Amino acid sequence: MKKTINLGLIGFGTIGTGVIRLLQKNGALISERVGAEIKIKRIADIDITTPRGVELPDGILTTKADDILNDPDIDIVIELMGGYEPARTFLLKAMENKKHVCTANKALLATHGDDIFRSANRNGVNIGFEPSVGGTIPVIKTIKESLIGNRIESIMAIVNGTSNFILSKMTDEGGSFATVLKEAQALGFAEANPTFDIEGVDAAHKLAILLSLSYGKKVRLEDLHREGISSIGEQDIVFARELGYRIKLLAIAINRGGYIEARLHPTMVPFDHILANVNSNFNAFHIIGDAADSVFLYGQGAGMMPTASAVISDVVDIARDIIKGVSVRVPPRVLDEEKITEINLLPFEEIVTNYYFRFSVADQPGVLSQISGILGKNNISIATVIQKGRKQDGAVPIVMTTYKARERDVQKALADIDKLDVAMGKTMLIRIEDDKLS
Ligand code: HSE
Repeated sequence: MKKTINLGLIGFGTIGTGVIRLLQKNGALISERVGAEIKIKRIADIDITTPRGVELPDGILTTKADDILNDPDIDIVIELMGGYEPARTFLLKAMENKKHVCTANKALLATHGDDIFRSANRNGVNIGFEPSVGGTIPVIKTIKESLIGNRIESIMAIVNGTSNFILSKMTDEGGSFATVLKEAQALGFAEANPTFDIEGVDAAHKLAILLSLSYGKKVRLEDLHREGISSIGEQDIVFARELGYRIKLLAIAINRGGYIEARLHPTMVPFDHILANVNSNFNAFHIIGDAADSVFLYGQGAGMMPTASAVISDVVDIARDIIKGVSVRVPPRVLDEEKITEINLLPFEEIVTNYYFRFSVADQPGVLSQISGILGKNNISIATVIQKGRKQDGAVPIVMTTYKARERDVQKALADIDKLDVAMGKTMLIRIEDDKLS
């Protein structure tokens, strides 16, 4: 039996440092649990001089990834450098060299997953990617293994901590999106360039990965409907509260029989919805399986040690397989690669859900009837109307929520309403997930 499992780490940034710290802190415990020593053999990074606050044996650091990729003693390559290239090339080369791999690289898997997963299959090696979605939360293992006997009926998830932090702060403490974003940046909860997080790009990557596992399908990122949070106004947060909702950036997947409905956008959820209570920078997943019913997972979606915990979970899974002489016990996308087909997504304009509209209109007689007339003509039934106050420039916000309506009808109605003479700004639309509003 193999006594030592050698790891090569490419990318010695925050998460890489966390992995080393975790192995130094809990290495004996982890090795005891696995039944073999889990040992870091080499670490590659372009910067090997900045101190990371960890003691390392001499000669372990290298600036050349090839020192890892071509080392016959290395069993598992952990890619934590991020970005598309050279991360993709390194992963492919590691697998060609028959090494098992682990990665946290959601952007790479969401865009080049097909090549990478097929390479793992062709080379008979494992690929672990638990930290790529939900950081420390074991959502990938839950879908791939724990819920394997279920048809996944739906997933609703908060998968971006930065957006959740901003929305939670706007809700609980007030402030505009721009002000709260600056505060989040100052506190280290948002990047200097926050575009990927606030425009939903990072969350869409994670949704694409979840869809591919849940349904055993190839997913093209550009086919997913994606909206970020930068257009959410202070007044939308206040109106949401008045209506009994909190606004969350939700990744949504719903099994509609022959079609999968998948979308990512700000969503109003009732105060008593389990996801309404996931605040600050936390992530969470509400998964419904046809046998399991509701499963809820919650935790840190990012951060040095929580993410390192997920990396080590993949390392241990692979190490155990190596020790038992088994490989690829669980295929990367649940099904054998040759059975993976294109996902059949429900066209976005066909979705049926509830809506919140905030119209900016002139405060004059007959406006409400013009708006409700257009909504009625487009089969949209109003559930609630709020109009309060009169703005100095003459524009007032009129807020409406709707019973279930079709996206195509909603888009047509809003285009007509925004062309009215009384319209003084583009209508704000936020979708609602509320079972009581059918
Ligand atoms: N930037 C991500 C977030 C963490 O804000 O959740 C890494 O996926």
